[in-house]
Amino acid sequence: MKLENKLFQGKTLAILSGGGDTPAINSSIESIRNRASLLGFKVYGVLRGWKGLLGEGDIVDLTNQPYDGYYGGTALRSSRTNPFPSKKNPESRVSQVLKNLERYKIDVLVTIGGDDTNGAAKRLFETEGIPVIGFPKTIDNDLRTRTIHHYDGKDIEAALCPGFPSAASSVMEFTANLKTTAESHSRIIVLEVMGRDAGWLTGTATFGGAALGLVPEFEITKARKEVFFETVKEAYMHSKKKCLVIPVSEGIRWYDEKTGKVDVVYASSEVDEYGHPRFGGVSGVVASEISNKLGIEARAQISGYYARSGHCRHYDRKLTSTLADKVVDLLLREEYGQMPVMKTITPHVELEEFNTTSIDMGAVGNKPLSYDYYDINNFSFTPAYADFLMKILEKPTYDEFRYDFPVVIP
Ligand code: F6P
Repeated sequence: MKLENKLFQGKTLAILSGGGDTPAINSSIESIRNRASLLGFKVYGVLRGWKGLLGEGDIVDLTNQPYDGYYGGTALRSSRTNPFPSKKNPESRVSQVLKNLERYKIDVLVTIGGDDTNGAAKRLFETEGIPVIGFPKTIDNDLRTRTIHHYDGKDIEAALCPGFPSAASSVMEFTANLKTTAESHSRIIVLEVMGRDAGWLTGTATFGGAALGLVPEFEITKARKEVFFETVKEAYMHSKKKCLVIPVSEGIRWYDEKTGKVDVVYASSEVDEYGHPRFGGVSGVVASEISNKLGIEARAQISGYYARSGHCRHYDRKLTSTLADKVVDLLLREEYGQMPVMKTITPHVELEEFNTTSIDMGAVGNKPLSYDYYDINNFSFTPAYADFLMKILEKPTYDEFRYDFPVVIP
């Protein structure tokens, strides 16, 4: 097809990424850019999320530029800037965004983000008529993508967000490595995992050989804490090498003996422009209480940004490219205010456009882990969760050194 005959010739599409980075954002940008270019769009990148549409604007041209979709993070950079008034910043900056969209002649905006970035974009679409398309992104996997997991004759509402599969691989590998240290010292290592108010990512440690697990969705009251210690003791005593790696979500609600309340441990009292505090440090509390209560040596390890950083894994690469195929469909139909998602949880080979759909991009926040995936009585992840993860990670990955040396009697 000749250049001038392309459907969107003369139009400009801009991409921005907001919120926490993931290993799959560059892959999303590259996939969207390539498809939009084929349709004839000139493609711009907005730098640092919504911040790049404030003031004079901060925009780069991505058309025909080399782009490395395997490289982690986001080459467009990110921020948690909110153009709408917030507690932290009561001033509305929507007029600046509108001015820049006009000044740079941006016809369509694709926002790669979670609930905050896409929620703001949806408000712009609804209140100002800006054509926007959302693109899911978060290692927390807590966006309500309405992706169905067929398991054992049941349809479970799960979630599948680009960024999560790569982060899941990293947490699995990190756990598998920690296991050798825990084994060498007969210790319990309490591994803290990001995920904010959701435990999806925490569960992925089980594929690295972790046992049990605590998630934010089910609070640890005074009574449940006692049961938890008993369960830990039993699991430790029954473990072959007398060691455990126990993953805990950064946002768990844990009973505090001093205050008598169930609370979250914060890394800082600061909140971002969307009102989110920063969690961090609960693994230290859990480990020291395990030591004191059970007399078993326990240590804390925060996996933190390790989960979020590094290159895009092959599941995410295909996922982002499949969802970008659906973006083409939305562009052709001029269906704005929508976000592409997978209809069902599938293995890598079945990530194809026929299995995508789109949902309202403004109401995707907070899909917690359900009872289908977490067994509150045993503080563990269910076989349904293992099946969900198996589709994404293919198999658990950790080494076992099965030694059984004969004891020497002098
Ligand atoms: O939402 C993604 C996430 O990585 C959460 O898991 C975590 O709580 C938060 O971002 C940390 O964000 P920051 O980049 O502000 O430390």
